[in-house]
Amino acid sequence: MRAVCLGGGPAGLYFAISLKRRDPSHDVVVVERNGPDDTFGWGVVLSDETLDNLKANDPESAELIRREFVYWDDIAVHYRDKVITSSGHGFCGIGRKRLLNILQDRARALGVQLQFETEAKVLEPYRDFDLIVGADGVNSRVRTSHADIFKPDVDVRACKYVWLGTNQKFDDAFTFIFEETEHGWIWAHAYQFDADTATFIVECSQATWARAGFDHIGIDETIAVCEKIFARNLGGHRLMSNARHLRGSAWLNFNRVLCERWSYRNIVLLGDAAATAHFSVGSGSKLAMESAIALAEYLHTESSMDAAFRRYEDERRLEVLRLQNAARNSTEWFENVERYLHLDPVQLNYSLLTRSQRISHENLRRRDSAWLADAERWFEKKATGQTPLANHAPMFVPFRVRSIELKNRVVVSPMAQYRAVDGNPTDWHLVHYAERAKGGAGLVFTEMTCVSPEGRITPGCTGLYRDEHEKTWKRIVDFVHAETDAKIAIQLGHSGAKGSTQLGWETMDAPLAADNWEVIGPSPVRWSPGNQMPREMNRADMDRVSDDYVRAAQMAERAGFDWLELHYAHGYLMSSFITPLTNNRTDSYGGNLENRMRFPLEVFHAVRAVWPEDKPISVRISAHDWVGADGITPQDAVAISRMLVVAGVDLIDVSAGQTSTRAKPIYGRMFQTPFSDRIRNEAGVATMAVGNIYEPDHVNSILMAGRADLVCLARPHLANPYWTLHAAADLGYEGATWPKPYLAGRDQLRRLKARAEIMAGKV
Ligand SMILES: Cc1cc2nc3c(=O)[nH]c(=O)nc-3n(C[C@H](O)[C@H](O)[C@H](O)COP(=O)(O)OP(=O)(O)OC[C@H]3O[C@@H](n4cnc5c(N)ncnc54)[C@H](O)[C@@H]3O)c2cc1C
Ligand SMILES: Cc1cc2nc3c(=O)[nH]c(=O)nc-3n(C[C@H](O)[C@H](O)[C@H](O)COP(=O)(O)O)c2cc1C
Repeated sequence: MRAVCLGGGPAGLYFAISLKRRDPSHDVVVVERNGPDDTFGWGVVLSDETLDNLKANDPESAELIRREFVYWDDIAVHYRDKVITSSGHGFCGIGRKRLLNILQDRARALGVQLQFETEAKVLEPYRDFDLIVGADGVNSRVRTSHADIFKPDVDVRACKYVWLGTNQKFDDAFTFIFEETEHGWIWAHAYQFDADTATFIVECSQATWARAGFDHIGIDETIAVCEKIFARNLGGHRLMSNARHLRGSAWLNFNRVLCERWSYRNIVLLGDAAATAHFSVGSGSKLAMESAIALAEYLHTESSMDAAFRRYEDERRLEVLRLQNAARNSTEWFENVERYLHLDPVQLNYSLLTRSQRISHENLRRRDSAWLADAERWFEKKATGQTPLANHAPMFVPFRVRSIELKNRVVVSPMAQYRAVDGNPTDWHLVHYAERAKGGAGLVFTEMTCVSPEGRITPGCTGLYRDEHEKTWKRIVDFVHAETDAKIAIQLGHSGAKGSTQLGWETMDAPLAADNWEVIGPSPVRWSPGNQMPREMNRADMDRVSDDYVRAAQMAERAGFDWLELHYAHGYLMSSFITPLTNNRTDSYGGNLENRMRFPLEVFHAVRAVWPEDKPISVRISAHDWVGADGITPQDAVAISRMLVVAGVDLIDVSAGQTSTRAKPIYGRMFQTPFSDRIRNEAGVATMAVGNIYEPDHVNSILMAGRADLVCLARPHLANPYWTLHAAADLGYEGATWPKPYLAGRDQLRRLKARAEIMAGKV
């Protein structure tokens, strides 16, 4: 086969090597616009795992790369005159130039033809080649020449960065330095890659960059300014650029590239040309070289070029998406870093280390147990004001709000049971809530309990509008208080336009087959074409609904509930006032967000006035309508939360969606937690995260990173009411209270866990 690689970076060179190794009879040419020694950029981070892959592919070059590796284990964060270092992270680096020289020599030795200083402007001269590899980097001409086929999606990210190098040593740790300047925060990512040189990437927000005047100064002045900013860490060493070929400012925005297709006829994209990974997860070169191996391999093992391309795309795309997902989290963390710079250095460090969501709490324990133990102690001391005698996972640290102290931070999320009769809870509810309260969570929520018969979602929903309801709820609350040390919260709501619908396991949100009751809403906007048209509420309706909330709150107080939550999420009445998707009013209750919040805030104030001063009120909101700019966005959710905080809400329960049938939610592990993170750290209010959180590890990392104060689990508590007690046993936490009659079960569980750990060689 005659193959040409356009571009002689890691992708092109390593593909040429990989192809030649598999069959020396191939005729392979690499075309590179630069000379062999004038590479730009500094160090490249690889891992031992990548090196193993390279070794299996080509032991000769892998050995040379390994010999050049600089290893470092620590990550150091310099912030507010403090340096916090954690260990066990295991990186290795090599100079980009050295890496390319090794690959060039190896390619030459295998008989690859290297053509330097040759610009591949068009594909025409290469039409006689059997295979054309577009390995021409992030701004690939090969990709743009067939953009209609490859359909690239280029996302220009928000921060500005400049790649610099320095002879200052950063050989003891991968180092992040955050400096506050008069123009805003500027930070550096620094790491050693050979005996004398370290990469030093300087990054800041676009706004800071413009304020600092970096937009109209050249590279020399940029370097001079950066040297001043980071003087404390540079120890008198200079910063250096090797990108003087770039015209104008040397600052760049990172381009996240992904293409719909990577191949067309005999042309295939490879490396950055096909997909990029943000430098903060340091995997661009790894991705490029591992993809090069896969492409060469499939060209040999598959029956045709087409089949090889298909397999290459299928398999490598998965890897790319996985990495881009982690890289997106990491990129966004840096883009929003100013949100976190009020955090204590310990928490900032933890948040930074777990930013990509690839590293969890227990993972950090394996890397550096002493550091994590310190961090856990810091968390507990901050919460309780006392130095803990033993180490406890964050989920077992008490949480206090007003007079209510929760024994831990696990919450049973509100979940409709559809087992009530005329709004009255039944024995089902007694057993259901009693079980969850016995199961170890600090706080157990009731399902959405409706403030009036017509405020119910379904005929099976619980209510709190008749004396008998109060009595039945009191029996449940009394049991929880008498037999457990859990607290119990009532969630109050009104269904609005989503009312008079079927039970959850029938056709959810569809109207009843018969005996529908009238539904109301801020505007005549139905939930779906099949649902009833709600009647637009007038002032009298609003007063009545507000009075219903007040009556329910008074009943909840008499029933003995510890905590009250107003359900302002999921498209029910209050939520339908807040989102512009269902509120078209032209009076002072519609229009801008302030107006749309007016009625929900009026109801909050009315409830707060009758709810005891020493008991908390939380509000559940939908922080994202998932319909783009037409609906509530996470940014709006911060504004909503700020209004609720001013009104006196104690905690925001951050849910999302269910406000429109047009919504296109992006699901995933902990998918709503970023909204909680944003609200907590931008609006400065306690939050509760919820949504696809199911492992103790998730809970601990959310809490420790300051992404929420409490963590709500819904479905996991349906599957296992004793979720928290099991988590305690898994984590070796002995402070969880088991009901006395169950102590023998606890002891056996602990013994079995201990035995399993011994068998697994963990002890
Ligand atoms: C300037 C630069 C510096 C970098 N520095 C670092 C770093 O310090 N650390 C790190 O981890 N990652 C760095 N990266 C990112 C990482 O190296 C990339 O993810 C990785 O290099 C991808 O390999 P690649 O071969 O696909 O692309 P590249 O390494 O970008 O290689 C593409 C090659 O194609 C050549 N080329 C482009 N167009 C043409 C053309 N029309 N004709 C001929 N040749 C062409 C370019 O000169 C380049 O040598 C850097 C990237 C760039 C572009
Ligand atoms: C059966 C069921 C009923 C629910 N009922 C309510 C409810 O009454 N009020 C509410 O705010 N959320 C309700 N939810 C949403 C949950 O509280 C939670 O936000 C959602 O299930 C995501 O959490 P999870 O991934 O832990 O299940 C319900 C969820 C389920 C599964």
